[in-house]
Amino acid sequence: MFEKPISELTPTEASAELAYIAQEMAKSDIAYYQQDNPYLTDAEYDSLKRRNEELEARFPELIRTDSPSKKIGAPLQSGFAKVKHRFPMLSLGDVFSIEEVDDFVMGVKRFLNTSSDIVFMAEPKIDGLSFSARYEQGRFVQGATRGDGVLGEDITANLKTIKQLPQTLRGNYPDVLEVRGEVYMSKADFFAINEKYAAEGKKTFANPRNAAAGSLRQLDSRITAERNLSIFAYTWGEVSTRMWDSQADFFEHLKEWGFPINPLNHLCHNLQDIENNFNQLMEQRASLAYDIDGIVYKVNDIALQERLGFLTRTPRWAIAHKFPAEQAITTIQDIRIQVGRTGTLTPVADLEPVNVGGVIVSHATLHNEDEIKRKDIRIGDSVIIQRAGDVIPQVVGVLLDKRPQDSKPFIFPNRCPVCGAHAIREEDEVARRCTGGLTCPAQSQERLIHFVSREAFDIAGLGSSIIEDFYKEGIIRTPVDIFTLEQRNTADDLFANQKGSVLHLEQRAGWGKKSVDNLFKAINAKRHISMPRFIYALGIRQVGAATALLLSKHYGNFEHFMSDMLAKETGPLVSIDGIGPSMATDIVEFFQEPHNQKTIHELLQEISIDDYVDTSASNTPFSGKTLVFTGTLEHLTRSEAKAKAQSLGAKVSGSVSAKTDYVIMGADAGSKAAKAQELGIKILTEAEFLELAATPQA
Ligand code: IVH
Repeated sequence: MFEKPISELTPTEASAELAYIAQEMAKSDIAYYQQDNPYLTDAEYDSLKRRNEELEARFPELIRTDSPSKKIGAPLQSGFAKVKHRFPMLSLGDVFSIEEVDDFVMGVKRFLNTSSDIVFMAEPKIDGLSFSARYEQGRFVQGATRGDGVLGEDITANLKTIKQLPQTLRGNYPDVLEVRGEVYMSKADFFAINEKYAAEGKKTFANPRNAAAGSLRQLDSRITAERNLSIFAYTWGEVSTRMWDSQADFFEHLKEWGFPINPLNHLCHNLQDIENNFNQLMEQRASLAYDIDGIVYKVNDIALQERLGFLTRTPRWAIAHKFPAEQAITTIQDIRIQVGRTGTLTPVADLEPVNVGGVIVSHATLHNEDEIKRKDIRIGDSVIIQRAGDVIPQVVGVLLDKRPQDSKPFIFPNRCPVCGAHAIREEDEVARRCTGGLTCPAQSQERLIHFVSREAFDIAGLGSSIIEDFYKEGIIRTPVDIFTLEQRNTADDLFANQKGSVLHLEQRAGWGKKSVDNLFKAINAKRHISMPRFIYALGIRQVGAATALLLSKHYGNFEHFMSDMLAKETGPLVSIDGIGPSMATDIVEFFQEPHNQKTIHELLQEISIDDYVDTSASNTPFSGKTLVFTGTLEHLTRSEAKAKAQSLGAKVSGSVSAKTDYVIMGADAGSKAAKAQELGIKILTEAEFLELAATPQA
């Protein structure tokens, strides 16, 4: 990318390069952290970073204030700024029957000490998420989510992308006006986006509400803009002058200012009106373009609202009448076990298709093993299913009197139905998980993506989309396949295309000799890997980069770590600050699985794992020294001793040679001690070793 060696650059050229690098890396950070869409490959990014460092070392006077070297940690990923609501965004009390609505109405009358009918505005309760939009002098200036009601998130940029939200108000408006309402995604947009995501292999949304929330809470508003969100306005926050005296009147103003309001909002003059309206909306519900989960009743008259006031978090003048979940009866034809990307086994019921509130339902989630047991759900059972706002229906219960005589309890498999590996269940966990990790086809593609990811093997040019392609074609199925790729490519061994002729990588669409060479170079560069990266890359449950580092610090050497794990030694693990029993169990179990052992074994034929040397331990009496332990130690196990030495920057060797600096001798030391004496190597007792180890670092 850069032609001249740094030593030949003039200050002007260096300055231009520094500016270019700062700009490129900033662009890349935004693309990577905010858009899930890398702009530079990791290798390109690293090479820019290195060039920047070298330039800055040679031309310190040219270091820019916006230099990438000054950025710490994950840039820009700070989330949303917080917005304090000047008027809290409240929620509503819920009721579930017309009787309870009656109680509410009576309560209102009692509070107001009146026997006359109160007029209520009945509004469909939109199943989305609430927003607040602040206007000053008729201009939209700030948007916020509800958050905890007091502090919300600043989503100004995202709300701006919603076409239905007016940027400037029409007509007559107060100087300061906060309009509040609901952001939602229509059912049609929800199905469209899910279909698209499913086709792209991306995670789909569970329901329109989640889709709306996920779309609105995007750090990059360009993503929000692509997601077709809609709004209905229904209430207000801070206002400089209230120009309306009823909810109905407020809706007229909202219309004038340019806000969408729900066409089904309806004034009710008595309980009969309320009931009729409820029944009518229940009927309409399935055919509406968006999800509603109930009806909100608000005292129409604002003067009365003010008299009624608030309870702690809810107004006394409004209530939500929630719809019952939509239910139907059908039979379970089969129970299938799906395996998710992280190995979770999820039972799914195949149903005799049935119409539930206007939607044909043919599957229901059974959640997990306990749920099946608790409800005693069996194949062949007649069951009540329900759709409760969510799109994936659930089984509410079994109609036992309809159970076939020959039915048998469902036995949850203890093996993964995809790969046959043990499916185990941790104490305190509801999920049973496949332990097939690196080789289970259901999981292996995701695991491979993790394996090559930035904090793991970090292989430039082998991003998730290439892994997906290669996985599909069977070119890379396991981690070791990555390292045998070049050899298989050369050996004419790489997969036929549909017409049956062998295709080498460089002959495939989108590939050429240069890109293939670069890929092999990038792979070969990772044949030496640091211990923390390797451990992290294995994708052991609960083991992130930080834990991988702790393990590396403790053990110093991978084989040593692995042999403890094979021996099921959880003791040393839990002695590590930051590793608890559940994590220790996950780690040990990972190494107990023969296919994981096999994968590691095969990988070790191809790559080597560098011992971990704690560079922060460069000032200890043992830093850079080679130690040999011999005999039986009294205070430390061998593993602990070795780990301690390594944490102090020492290398631990198994045999005494001229390169040995210290031999630490326990009881019954044999030939090694003698050899040390012969070679004139310093011999320490265990106590002396511990004392020196405890010496404060210089
Ligand atoms: S009024 C003080 N009106 O329901 C009154 N809320 O369960 C505050 N919602 O947080 C809310 N449609 O997200 C109101 N027509 C409507 C609504 C509505 C949906 C949501 C809103 C609120 C939640 C309370």
